[in-house]
Amino acid sequence: MEETDFAAHLTAVMTGSALTMLIGVGHRTGLFAAAAGGPATSAGLAARAGLEERYVREWLGAMVTGGIFTYDDGEYAFPPSHAKFLLGETASNLMPSLLTLSAFTGILPELERAFAEGGGVPRSAYGPHLEALGAKTGDSWKHIYREHLVDGFFGAVPGLTERLAAGVRVLDLGCGTGNAIAVAAEAFPASRFTGVDINPGVVGQARENTAHLPNAEFAVGDAAELAGEFDVITAFDAVHDQDRPDVVLRRIRGALAPDGLFFMVDTNFSADVARNVGHPLAALCYSISLMYCTTTSLAEGGAALGAMWGTEKARELLADAGFRHVEVLGSPRPQNCVYACRP
Ligand SMILES: C[S@@+](CC[C@H](N)C(=O)[O-])C[C@H]1O[C@@H](n2cnc3c(N)ncnc32)[C@H](O)[C@@H]1O
Repeated sequence: MEETDFAAHLTAVMTGSALTMLIGVGHRTGLFAAAAGGPATSAGLAARAGLEERYVREWLGAMVTGGIFTYDDGEYAFPPSHAKFLLGETASNLMPSLLTLSAFTGILPELERAFAEGGGVPRSAYGPHLEALGAKTGDSWKHIYREHLVDGFFGAVPGLTERLAAGVRVLDLGCGTGNAIAVAAEAFPASRFTGVDINPGVVGQARENTAHLPNAEFAVGDAAELAGEFDVITAFDAVHDQDRPDVVLRRIRGALAPDGLFFMVDTNFSADVARNVGHPLAALCYSISLMYCTTTSLAEGGAALGAMWGTEKARELLADAGFRHVEVLGSPRPQNCVYACRP
């Protein structure tokens, strides 16, 4: 890259991070929701949102020049084609991810200390920062499951939806707040779903989210101590974060029925950084991996695979765990793939 191009590139980087912060401000002050009501002057929008006009006007200036709002004849507009990416209960809404990213700034002092001293930032350190900035990490996935779980993710594996419809025993490992089971248990009433997560807080929320579903149950447990027998074991975005992924994968293999399927959704990148150059989501995913996945694992003395462990490393660990047949399939999200793993 030429020097002048690189300076322009860095300026765009800076602008992106400034806008990410102000997008969070717009969310927490209710400005986006108010602006969805239609074009308004800064005074009109401030009155609608119950805010101070001077602050709203400066924020609007950033939103217009940042390409998020439009401006015409004294009025600011939030086009519906933009609003769907920042408001609403859909998988298109990127607000949960934007808020989560901002919240990571709160742990940077601890992360920098770990660069120098080793160790990492424990998962418990993130809660207060996420809450303070209004971020709920499960929210993005909740909408993704509603829109894509059955046809997009399960549909990627031939015959899987038919088995689920017929009735099988399913375990979801690292189930979080139960968003995947909430969709799957409703779509496949003949199957029985068990969610396991090491975090008692999310298991409590999972039980609340699925209280109306008689075929869903949850337990607090460590995947590294998994027991029992299941026809299908799923893990959504939950394996690369494991402190002991090799042990967990062996346990999964041991808990599968002879004709069972391990259905793993994880990130779709290469283990080789050179092969990720030019991928539009790679820098973002390396950054998230550093600021969450890698450091939380190191805090526990874990393997710290990170989110960018890559399909090569995943295949290696799956083979070591005893999965002789592994297919890597596409998914509805470019940053994720589906591993269909059989003994
Ligand atoms: C990135 S979240 C994904 C949550 C959920 N699958 C979803 O898609 O919303 C990873 C989850 O794995 C859980 N987890 C991490 N280590 C675990 C372990 N050893 N045993 C069980 N759950 C674990 C975490 O508590 C967290 O809820």
